[in-house]
Amino acid sequence: MSTYLYQKTNHYFGQLASGTEKCGEAELKGLGATNIKPGYLGVYFCANQRTLYDIVYRTRIFSRILAPLIVFDCHSEKYLYKTAQNIDWSDFLTLTKTFAITSNVADSNIRNSQYAGHVFKDAIVDQFRDKTGERPNVDTHNPDLQLNLYIHENKARISVDLGGGSLHKRGYRAQSVEAPMQETLAAAIIQLSDWHGERPLHDPFCGSGTLLCEALMKQCNIPAAYLRKKFGFLRLPDFDATVWNQVKTKANAEMIQIGQAGSAAPHVEQASLPAQALISGSDISTDAVKAVRANRAALPDAGKIKVRRADFHDLEGFDNTTIVTNPPYGIRLGDKEGATALLKEFGDFLKQKCTGCTAFIYYGDASLAKKLGLKPEWKQPLRSGGLDGILCKYELY
Ligand SMILES: C[S@@+](CC[C@H](N)C(=O)[O-])C[C@H]1O[C@@H](n2cnc3c(N)ncnc32)[C@H](O)[C@@H]1O
Repeated sequence: MSTYLYQKTNHYFGQLASGTEKCGEAELKGLGATNIKPGYLGVYFCANQRTLYDIVYRTRIFSRILAPLIVFDCHSEKYLYKTAQNIDWSDFLTLTKTFAITSNVADSNIRNSQYAGHVFKDAIVDQFRDKTGERPNVDTHNPDLQLNLYIHENKARISVDLGGGSLHKRGYRAQSVEAPMQETLAAAIIQLSDWHGERPLHDPFCGSGTLLCEALMKQCNIPAAYLRKKFGFLRLPDFDATVWNQVKTKANAEMIQIGQAGSAAPHVEQASLPAQALISGSDISTDAVKAVRANRAALPDAGKIKVRRADFHDLEGFDNTTIVTNPPYGIRLGDKEGATALLKEFGDFLKQKCTGCTAFIYYGDASLAKKLGLKPEWKQPLRSGGLDGILCKYELY
């Protein structure tokens, strides 16, 4: 059996949304990674096997963790095919297992990402067919092995996707409404809000409840991949089931319930515990409220997320609360003029009924940030899922 690049170097690459790099780096550091260095839309890092499994199981911020098998100069499709055939794919696949490829090509002789992926797939399939007369199947929805091909300036990298697909798919999204936020983006927003359960958190435009579910997962220390059924690292030739079981058992044992004294709300004195629910949301849409109820049900301690149908205009207001929200932004939901008018009214609501609160507002369209009528303490562009958005923090005095 060959020794692959990740085995020689212990080097990996984590992909994340633009603007979440600092969050990602801090998370990796906290989980024990070393040699953390920024890369294009991601972060390079080193980790031993145990730490690596832990990172894949717990990361809230990264959408993919990739283990490189080989890096090579690649000036043509022919060379891509030839080099991909040099890997013994029976180290990763059998005829009963399925695979899929994500590919990304930039500034290279090979111009088309999809075609590059196709050539790569042929190399794998032909190797099996030449040896056995049969070929493994491609399954783009739920493959056993997810591979990644990245070619930049004629330098190619072939990697195994250790999550076995994008890690933003936590597994709790049973129902959705229009314009749901990616879970990894929501997790980064919760992280940037610096909320630690010391006071209530409310989302007045909660939609399907992504921010609420991510707040609960963080607060209860629920591993982000807790509900995930398959992991790409199970297909690595050096996969160690004992180490993986130990990692998973330890992470699951570290989950905590909201309300356990000194755990999920460590900074709160018992006497000043909030009367309102620690994590709550509201939305004008009945379907959104139903979606939150369906989604939270998959998570441990789900009852700790309270949700109700309400137009924000009718809310009584908040005190000493962290407001984290993603109002309609007129791209996929309604029109931009409507979103502009709504934001102005929401700004008035914050000024008049939310003194003593801190608000973190994610605008899916960065140009809308000016429409609230409040001056932000800071702004952080965050791009994810095709949205060129921005997160703003407001102190409401
Ligand atoms: C961009 S979506 C929020 C998506 C959410 N972050 C998620 O991940 O599913 C905006 C939400 O605002 C809600 N909304 C629109 N007008 C509202 C109003 N006046 N009061 C409360 N909610 C409203 C919509 O029903 C929609 O669910």
